[in-house]
Amino acid sequence: MSEVWNNPDYVKRYNNVYGITKEQLDRYMAPLRLETADTLIEFGCGNGEALARAIDIVEMAAGVDISKDQLEQARKKLAGKKNALLVESSFLQCREALAGHLFTKGMSRKALHHLTDSEKPVFVERAAPLFKQGAIFVLEDGIFDFDKSLLKEKVPQIIEEAKVYYGDAWLKIEKDFMITILEEFMTDYPTWESAFKNGGFELIDRKAYSMFYGMMVFKKIR
Ligand SMILES: C[S@@+](CC[C@H](N)C(=O)[O-])C[C@H]1O[C@@H](n2cnc3c(N)ncnc32)[C@H](O)[C@@H]1O
Repeated sequence: MSEVWNNPDYVKRYNNVYGITKEQLDRYMAPLRLETADTLIEFGCGNGEALARAIDIVEMAAGVDISKDQLEQARKKLAGKKNALLVESSFLQCREALAGHLFTKGMSRKALHHLTDSEKPVFVERAAPLFKQGAIFVLEDGIFDFDKSLLKEKVPQIIEEAKVYYGDAWLKIEKDFMITILEEFMTDYPTWESAFKNGGFELIDRKAYSMFYGMMVFKKIR
């Protein structure tokens, strides 16, 4: 699926239709409680909206994304910020490009569901050495609040809830939504918890915003 992110028209449409609002940014970043001494990394930084919000607070911020077009926009948003680092890479291969950095905070929104369930623990294991002990990681993404094996039977209920959740926007996003839940690799809370545990992170908070979208907060304990 990552090839679509190198299609400029796809990226343009994504940012037009799904551009993050101020309220969404507030909700996503609040659990990080960013401070001046923090070093922050975002996986799937997209056009850099969240990094742009963080860059004047933290000591250093890095973004990883596989899409040239997204990174080009992120570069514009972060122009002149010497403490920003943008890495063009897949999630699974970015560690080498980040060697020497140690992060106190990590975040990812609507991006890590592009990893298959078998790739998720591999990603966390590879990324873990980039984080300091005590580091906080916020994951906000499509996450099912039921066992993923029940997905097929839950689809009608998900659609009913999504219509209410997205309101007027539903007709515009219905097709993308169905692809995301059925063809990308969204999973459930226990699967993510186990993947992060694999890299030495413990779950310290989680919240389901709907039966298909939510957030989890992890702390690196070893
Ligand atoms: C749905 S967008 C989310 C962007 C942004 N975080 C937001 O909240 O709007 C997913 C982002 O993840 C990136 N991405 C998808 N698969 C990836 C992969 N395997 N490795 C690195 N980046 C990937 C895409 O290029 C895209 O910018």
